[in-house]
Amino acid sequence: MLPLNHSLEFSTIDREQVLAWLADNVPPKRIKHILGVEQMAVDLATHYQINLEKAAIAGLMHDLAKYFKPQKLLEMAQIAGVEIDPISAANPHLLHADVSAIVARDTFKVTDTEVLDAIANHTLGRPGMNELSCIVFLADTLEPGRGNTPELEHLRKICYQSLDKALFQTCDYSLKFLLETHCLIHPRTIATRNWFLQKAQKKQLATPPKTA
Ligand SMILES: [Fe+2]
Ligand SMILES: [Fe+2]
Repeated sequence: MLPLNHSLEFSTIDREQVLAWLADNVPPKRIKHILGVEQMAVDLATHYQINLEKAAIAGLMHDLAKYFKPQKLLEMAQIAGVEIDPISAANPHLLHADVSAIVARDTFKVTDTEVLDAIANHTLGRPGMNELSCIVFLADTLEPGRGNTPELEHLRKICYQSLDKALFQTCDYSLKFLLETHCLIHPRTIATRNWFLQKAQKKQLATPPKTA
């Protein structure tokens, strides 16, 4: 059932159990997106030589709480001690990333903090987040099911050149969409964008100019 292109077996998690849970809690269209994120996270992890199993598990579990009702998201976040800032209070859906990490921990016994952080960071990012979080963040916005516009295709290519550059450009892409659709913007999206923009610029400055 639902094989991955890679032949990875999880050693710590029962993937079929997670898929069965998703089938009961998430509509089929979203499951397709989740599997797309899982696959793209594995592809990027392969490219950047990051732990494949961690990438696959974080991809598979990143949207566990996507369809929880706002009240449930608020309650679960509160009980777990997640900070509920004014933008998240106004738009509790933003908490689905943190709450998905809580479900991964409590229901599927995920204990790896890098995996839990990658799940929690997949919507807003976080300044200074590690490569695993970066690839899950990028896979969430750029998996093939998101469409084939020239802008998305361009971002997919950048992903394989530089995670830092792909990160801030993907934030720009999301920010443009939020501005155009008059949606609330969480300050952490901007902080994430600025952090990776500066990191990419510093790296560029540190690269000696090519000589003929
Ligand atoms: Fe999500
Ligand atoms: Fe997602």
